[in-house]
Amino acid sequence: MTTISLQSSAPGKVILFGEHAVVYGRPAIAVPVTQVRATATAEPAPPGSGLTLIAPDVGKSLSLTTAPRDEPLAVAARLTLDYLSAPEPDATLTISSTIPIASGLGSGAAVSTALVHALTTFLGRAFKPAETSTLVFEVEKIHHGTPSGIDNTVVAYEQPVYFVQRQPVERLTVGAPFTILIGDTGVRSPTKKVVEHVRRGQQREPAHYDALFDQIGDLADEARRAIESGDVDALGPLMDENHALLIELGVSSPKLNDLVETARFAGALGAKLSGAGRGGNMIALVEDDFVEDVTQALREAGAVRVIWTRVTTTE
Ligand code: MEV
Repeated sequence: MTTISLQSSAPGKVILFGEHAVVYGRPAIAVPVTQVRATATAEPAPPGSGLTLIAPDVGKSLSLTTAPRDEPLAVAARLTLDYLSAPEPDATLTISSTIPIASGLGSGAAVSTALVHALTTFLGRAFKPAETSTLVFEVEKIHHGTPSGIDNTVVAYEQPVYFVQRQPVERLTVGAPFTILIGDTGVRSPTKKVVEHVRRGQQREPAHYDALFDQIGDLADEARRAIESGDVDALGPLMDENHALLIELGVSSPKLNDLVETARFAGALGAKLSGAGRGGNMIALVEDDFVEDVTQALREAGAVRVIWTRVTTTE
């Protein structure tokens, strides 16, 4: 049995292009945000104690044996043990996260990924990103209902990805690194509810929604070309167009629009909401000389936090 404590972690994420349309088979682009992370630590427990899952930040302490069937942490642990055909170990898994919940930064996927990694490592095994991603996708269904799979993919691969549902994952090569500021409205917005809202719209007016999804998908394809060729200047207007289409989909909010406008006015090359919308975060593409100005403007406009991240290809 392993006798030392083992720590694993997983990053947050932002969607650069294509949220919502990706649920309907269109492409999307997402990147990891390493500045915020979920962490899981596995430690051995006395024989016979079984697996205990503790998340002090949210006041959770669960025994795997008695945890509810749909409890996300327990589901992640059970799926991992089933996949490995491993018996329940005597261990304590402690999970914490600096990723705000229900804000479009992939908190659920990161927590599950960190947990899956900590448990597999504790058992002396290792998963490939595709295996972790597949397991975490199952947990995502509890959080989101009908997730596209983009969150678990970008978090498990920890790489910029071009993602289309049910197609092999494509890692993006970033031709020239660029900086994104992430501004938090402070308004929590569960993805499931917003995705359901879009679904009702799509069922009511399929032609209109499908046309919007097509346009968003085309922007993701254009953005992919710009990112790969290092044409950063082209990305700003594409983000602006994507935001306008998300407004048409009905997933923005006055607060998001305000922060997006503020970022543009302060010198961002482009800005849009990111993730499910209605609250959560917006992102702005910012040249290095404008990072301070845009950060300050976002804070003055009411962003409860601004995170800086550099998008680049990681080995
Ligand atoms: C959530 O991060 C992104 C959405 O497109 C939902 C999904 O892809 O599952 C809104």
